[in-house]
Amino acid sequence: MTQEKRIVGITDTSLRDAHQSLMATRMKIEEMIPILEIMDDVGYHSLEVWGGATFDTCMRFLDEDPWDRLRVLRKHLKKTKIQMLLRAQNLVGYRHYADDVVDAFVQNTADCGLDIIRIFDALNDLRNMEKAMEATKRVGLHAQATVSYTISPFHDIPHFVDIARKLTDMGADSFCIKDMAGLISPYDAYELVSQLKKAVDIPIQLHCHYTSGMASMAYLKAIEAGVDVVDTATSPLSLGTSQPPTDTFVTALKDTPYDTGLNQELLLKVSEYFKGVRDNYTIPTGVALGVDTNVLLYQVPGGMISNLVSQLAEQNATHLLPKVLEEVPRVREDLGFPPLVTPSSQIVGTQAVVNVLLGERYKMVSTEVRNYLKGLYGQPPAPMNQELQKKVLKDEEPITERPANTLQPEMEKARENIKHLMEKDEDAITYAIFPQVAEPFFRRRKGLDPSLKAAQAKKDEMKEDAAQKDLKLDLKKVGAADASLAVKNSEGQVVGYPV
Ligand code: CO
Repeated sequence: MTQEKRIVGITDTSLRDAHQSLMATRMKIEEMIPILEIMDDVGYHSLEVWGGATFDTCMRFLDEDPWDRLRVLRKHLKKTKIQMLLRAQNLVGYRHYADDVVDAFVQNTADCGLDIIRIFDALNDLRNMEKAMEATKRVGLHAQATVSYTISPFHDIPHFVDIARKLTDMGADSFCIKDMAGLISPYDAYELVSQLKKAVDIPIQLHCHYTSGMASMAYLKAIEAGVDVVDTATSPLSLGTSQPPTDTFVTALKDTPYDTGLNQELLLKVSEYFKGVRDNYTIPTGVALGVDTNVLLYQVPGGMISNLVSQLAEQNATHLLPKVLEEVPRVREDLGFPPLVTPSSQIVGTQAVVNVLLGERYKMVSTEVRNYLKGLYGQPPAPMNQELQKKVLKDEEPITERPANTLQPEMEKARENIKHLMEKDEDAITYAIFPQVAEPFFRRRKGLDPSLKAAQAKKDEMKEDAAQKDLKLDLKKVGAADASLAVKNSEGQVVGYPV
C-alpha cells in the first residue's frame, strides 16, 4: 500500500455510552475500578467515562455522587485522556440551564480532572452551544464540538460541513459526528468525512451506534476517508444499540496503514473482565443483539422504540405501534426535522403516541411540545409547522433569541435552597441541575433517609430510562382529561395542554 502510515485513534465508550445503551446506565463505580489500571495501559486515544445519563442515574439509582465517580476515575486513569458527553446548555439534564450553572458545572469538571468535553445540541442550534464551548475553553479543557447526525430533506453533506466550519470558528479543538441512531451509511460516511477533511483542519471523530447494523462499515469507510478517531466499546458491551467492538476494530486494522497501535493482550483482559460485569445484568435481547430494521425504515433510534412500546403498554395499546411509528416522522416534520436525540426524541415520541391514542392529531400537546413551539429549545434545522404553532401558542409570540438569554441566574438560589443539606460547594451545582433527584440523594447521604440498596434497583426500572421518566406525559390522565384543563402529573406539575 502506498498510503502513509497513520494511527487511527480509538475512544472506548465502555464506561459511559456502552452501558447507558445496553444496561440503562446502571454500571457502578465498584464494577469499573478493578479494570481501570489495565485500561489505562491499553493506549486508547481517550475513554468516555462520564456525562449523558450517568449524572442523573448515579444519584437516582446507585446512591453514588457523580462528582466522586469522576474523581475516582481520574485517580485510576493517570495516563489516558478521559472525556464526557455534555448536552450543551442542557448540561446533563433535560432543559436549558442559566449561564451561571453552565460556568459552575464546567469549572467543576475541570477541577475533577476531566480532559475532553464533547458538546452537542439536540437541534444543532449553535447558539445553544456557545456558552458551553466558551466555558470549556476558558478552563483549559479540550472542546469537542459535535453535530447530531440525522437524515431529512434539510440535512445534506454541505449542511453538516457548514456546521463544522462554524464550530471551528467558535474555537472547537476537534469535531465529532454523533450518529446516535446508527443512520449513517458507509458511503455517506466516506463522503462526509472527505468533505470535512477538506473544509476544516481540526481532528474529525465519528461516533455511531450499531442499531442499524451499518456502523462497522461506516467506520471503515470513514477511516479510508481520513477520520482521525472512532468510538468503540469492549466486545461484551458492543453491538446492538451500543458501539462497534473495540477488539474487532483493532484486529481488523492491524498492520494496515490505519493500525490503532492498541495493546491486544491487555484488550483481551479488558473484554474478559467486562464479560463478567455484563453477566450481572439482564440485557433485553432486542437491545443487545441483532439489527433493528425499524431504524432503517423509520430512522427511529432503538431506545426510542422501547420507550414508545412501554408508553403504549401502559394503555394496553401496543397494537398501535405501527401507527405510532408512522406518526413519528410526521411530528418530526411539524417540528422542523430535529435530530432524534435527548430530549427531542422524547418530545417527538410522546407527542406521536398522544396523537395516535387520541385519534386526532394535536388535540393535546405536552408541555415540552408547547415550549418547543415557543422556541424555548432553540431553532430547529427547518421551519416548524406555522399552523400548529399558531394553534398551540394562540396570541403568544415565539421567542427568536438564544433561549438561555431568557433565563435568570440560578446558582445563588440553588445554594440558598439546599444549604441545609450541603456538604461541599459542588452540591449546589448538583442541586441546580436535578433538584428533585439531588435532595433525596443528599438526605440519604446524610443518613436522614435509608440508603438505596443495589438490590432495590428493580428490574422493571431497566425498561425505562431516566429521561423518559422526566418527560413522560401521564397518558392515563390524557385520556380522561377535561378539554379545558391542563394535565398535571402526580407531583402537580403541568405536563400537558389541550389545544
Ligand atoms: Co452515543
